[in-house]
Amino acid sequence: MIQILDKSFEVYINQVSIDNKIEKLAEEINTIYKDKEVIFISILNGSFMFTSDLMKKINLECEVSFVKVSSYIGVHTSGRVDELIGLNTDISNKHVIIVEDIVDTGITMNKIYSLLEKSNPSSLKICSLLFKREAFKGTIEPHYIGFEIPNKFVIGYGLDYNEKGRNLNEIYQLKEN
Ligand code: IMP
Ligand code: MG
Repeated sequence: MIQILDKSFEVYINQVSIDNKIEKLAEEINTIYKDKEVIFISILNGSFMFTSDLMKKINLECEVSFVKVSSYIGVHTSGRVDELIGLNTDISNKHVIIVEDIVDTGITMNKIYSLLEKSNPSSLKICSLLFKREAFKGTIEPHYIGFEIPNKFVIGYGLDYNEKGRNLNEIYQLKEN
């Protein structure tokens, strides 16, 4: 058990299980995208660790790009405007795989997906290490999923609780008292 700020967490998915799952995901992607031009787009901050470990097992000739989603109040439009910061590569006519740590309600992924779709990639798929199906309200489910998990808060392996816990090398679940 560990304590982060005011909450207690216990190990939920250990390092070996994470490694094995990433091995399987990489094999699947290596097979499906054989001889294709692939760009992996990793969503910061949460997916830095997952992306790093996944990429070590990908044997395709590929590119990796890291982006952040930002939401701001537009000057000329009403309501919030979403944008992806840091995408400095042309994804048109390329096979794109979005790499995400977790899809929860799916709202974030919906935004990312529609923003990237506008650039006309040849294909656009989502690879998420974790998927909370019970919480999902989105339209596009992740295509490559590591673990489906219940609707409980998790941290570690890139995921944070108030920015803490990202450095943990296993996935921890909130301990309810
Ligand atoms: P969404 O609800 O699918 O839009 O998820 C939004 C973001 O919330 C994710 O990209 C994560 O950064 C964060 N998030 C969702 N569930 C968890 C969790 O259990 N632990 C840590 N962060 C989470
Ligand atoms: Mg995230």
